[in-house]
Amino acid sequence: MGRRKISVIGAGFVGATAAHWAAEKELGDVALVDILEGIPQGKALDLFEASPIEGFDAKVIGSNGYDETKNSDVVIVTSGVPRKPGMSREDLLETNKKIIESVVLQVVQRSPNAILIMVTNPLDTMTYLAYKRSGLPKQRVIGMAGILDTARFKAFIAMELGVSVEDIQALILGGHGDEMVPLPRYTTVSGIPLSQLLPKETIDRLVDRTRKGGGEIVNLLKTGSAFYAPSAAAIQMTEAILKDKKRILPCCVYLEGEYGLKDICFGVPVKLGEKGAEKVVELDLTEEEKKLVAKSAESVKKSIAELKI
Ligand code: APR
Repeated sequence: MGRRKISVIGAGFVGATAAHWAAEKELGDVALVDILEGIPQGKALDLFEASPIEGFDAKVIGSNGYDETKNSDVVIVTSGVPRKPGMSREDLLETNKKIIESVVLQVVQRSPNAILIMVTNPLDTMTYLAYKRSGLPKQRVIGMAGILDTARFKAFIAMELGVSVEDIQALILGGHGDEMVPLPRYTTVSGIPLSQLLPKETIDRLVDRTRKGGGEIVNLLKTGSAFYAPSAAAIQMTEAILKDKKRILPCCVYLEGEYGLKDICFGVPVKLGEKGAEKVVELDLTEEEKKLVAKSAESVKKSIAELKI
């Protein structure tokens, strides 16, 4: 049995770091693609040259074309421009729309059986565009956002309580924007409800910081956006798929009635396995939570309408 194949489109901060995690975890061989001449080749060679030191066996190839991506099992799409301070994710729509349309067609021609993991922002809208343009079944076009948003919430809770990040379980629904819906009611520390460990005002503060978590990094970096946590999240999804782990993780998928939403890509808990997003898990929500979900869905719908497709 040969190795699995992961292609990463976009060899910038998120893409190159995703390639790094994938190779180091020996999830498969990696093809890194970018339009910039020399960049994917140089980063791929540099990463492969790290393998004798770190002790991983994975081929890493860089290219400006798509032939090297042929027959990929998973394709992670990170190509596109990132945010700068003062920009919202929506400000990226026009530029990234063109990039995603061309990339998705090239990818699917060569890897018709692949599962696409979308990372480019505005995330929910780009996932919708990729789903519509790729012609792939909805289970195989999945956006990365919920794991990242949830990881930020978990990190802030761990910092506040001074406990291990490993003991925190949390869940966030909705679009990957400031209107995402963190669910403190479904958040526990080793099974202990968060509400028993922190006062409401503190939880509200952490929720607010989570909602603006991407912007916090953009304001610090000034020249780009987050990349360690986003790439780690995309790789957690890749691993769940390639190892058929059936993990329950929040991801952005095309909905056809779940949560009362239709014709939208939106963040919900899904079962991730070898077939992709194998099942959407529906939760019982309070009236207040339903209102927040509706508000988040409204802003995603507005963004999708901007695509004019
Ligand atoms: N095909 C392939 N690669 C492309 C294309 C294209 N048509 N257009 C742009 N790229 C490449 C750029 O050359 C660049 O190397 O995509 C890469 C993007 O990398 P960065 O600018 O470093 O951006 P990054 O921080 O990696 O973010 C990428 O992920 O989190 C999101 O909002 C973020 O949309 C952004 C994306």
